[in-house]
Amino acid sequence: MEMMDSSDENLRRAGAAIAEGKLVVIPTETVYGLGADAFNPDAVARVFEAKMRPAFDPLIVHISTLDDIERIATSFPPKARLLAEILWPGPLTMILPKRPEVPDIVTSGLGTVAVRFPAHPVARKIIEYSGTVVAAPSANPFGYISPTTARHVAKTLGDRVDFIVDGGPCAVGVESTVIDMTRDTPALLRPGGMPLERIRDIIGEVLIPGKKGGPIASPGQLKSHYAPRANLYLYDWNSLPGAIHSSQSGAVQPGPPSGLGLPGRVAAIVFDGSRASKLAGTGLFRQVCALSERGDMREAASRLFALLHELDTAGFAAIYAERVPEEGLGRAINDRLYRASKK
Ligand code: TXA
Ligand code: MG
Repeated sequence: MEMMDSSDENLRRAGAAIAEGKLVVIPTETVYGLGADAFNPDAVARVFEAKMRPAFDPLIVHISTLDDIERIATSFPPKARLLAEILWPGPLTMILPKRPEVPDIVTSGLGTVAVRFPAHPVARKIIEYSGTVVAAPSANPFGYISPTTARHVAKTLGDRVDFIVDGGPCAVGVESTVIDMTRDTPALLRPGGMPLERIRDIIGEVLIPGKKGGPIASPGQLKSHYAPRANLYLYDWNSLPGAIHSSQSGAVQPGPPSGLGLPGRVAAIVFDGSRASKLAGTGLFRQVCALSERGDMREAASRLFALLHELDTAGFAAIYAERVPEEGLGRAINDRLYRASKK
């Protein structure tokens, strides 16, 4: 594996490597992706192998211009076009009817294809220089925390890829929002970096799977995902014992399971700084981390995976994570925390 910075010369090399069937890790504004030529089934097979990803979980195809759409999709419905005009490039993936030329391995045999136009200039250049379109899942081993820095990737997949292009930390920090545009009423398949509210403002009604009569989620939306090695427990701030809200000390165990008895190896993640100091005051945790000191949702999303990586590296046995407000990027944060948690 060769790690490279994002000089134009390197981006040209990275693009050429993709065209030759190599695996190239590319930075995007959401998370790092493990890219291969979407029209090269052997290269795509190596992506599945490197990630140890099950074949039933389809990949997203990344494009660098709207003209690429017609190479992979048979139609581009008006609502999809409207979203593309306003929100692309950006952290939004749209499911469209697939062209037969797109290899089945990319879409796990589905008749649809996931399409994303990333905003990160490095990703866009690499795709452009490759002369093709790029199938890229998040560059993490299957089921593990997604990478938001080149180092995260080097640590976990470094020996299984050809190049890693370092484009700095990812600004959004959670994966793209996935929305199915093949049905009359579009459906949210994965909450992510593009807030659902913005999508609804543009195209109106969007169904949410899991609700009665609603569609089923993406094949890749397994319940357990994005997980650190530590046991992660999700809690609501309001469900914590009253003593934590009111006092600066107290021998109160915050939520299940009780009697952990491992205060040295337990960490907590909270939304903002004021909650962090309250929890720190209990003395129950070795480390208490705020996702955003000033309670900013964007900052919280961009720090989430890096924080989980950091706590995992530090060897914590358990992590208590607070559910954040279920709005905007908060939906994606709660979704990833839920999937990372013990159920
Ligand atoms: O932000 C992102 O989307 C990142 C960066 C690298 O672009 N990529 C990413 O890919 O998160 P991945 O493979 O980790 O997640 C892709 C999701 C999965 O949940 C998968 O099941 C869903 O998209 N998906 C892909 N193709 C689909 C299809 N044809 N129909 C329904 N869901 C699909
Ligand atoms: Mg992923």
